[in-house]
Amino acid sequence: MNANKNSIYKFPFEEYSSEAALSEQEQELIKKAREAAQDAYSQYSKFSVGAAVLLKNGEIITGSNQENAAYPSGLCAERVALFYAASQYPDVPVKKLVVTALRKQKPIKEPVPPCGSCRQVFIEWEKRFGQPFEVIMAGTRKIIKIKQAGWLLPFNFQADFL
Ligand code: THU
Repeated sequence: MNANKNSIYKFPFEEYSSEAALSEQEQELIKKAREAAQDAYSQYSKFSVGAAVLLKNGEIITGSNQENAAYPSGLCAERVALFYAASQYPDVPVKKLVVTALRKQKPIKEPVPPCGSCRQVFIEWEKRFGQPFEVIMAGTRKIIKIKQAGWLLPFNFQADFL
């Protein structure tokens, strides 16, 4: 008999209207992500993204999107930051990742949702280091905080399938 049951995927998230409600460390991460966005190489989309990754050893690694004339060869800010962090500190887990963006050099109001490929990398990182990390999507008018990056990608592909 066919199963005929609808399931709903839900996950909790926190929503804030101002950075003031976040910890000092989180505010510092947002500041660093914004600074990183200023150095983005985003001449094709003119959408400058900055990411700041807080590692378990207290280090903060930032990254920005790096575009290319051959568009798919570019890379998102989140993956630039995560790949660099893991290259420098291959055994240190990530605690938090903040993402933000600038449009026409001004911080955007809305939270920036990481793309699907970045979400897939988040899943790999949580598996790799055996622990979840928080994602903070920071706009100036709205900030969204998610306790486990993997929640952003239901039905994801993992190494167990190989
Ligand atoms: N981008 C990021 O860096 N991170 C995101 O979360 C969304 C998109 C970049 C990719 C591309 O350089 C530009 O933003 C426009 O898509």
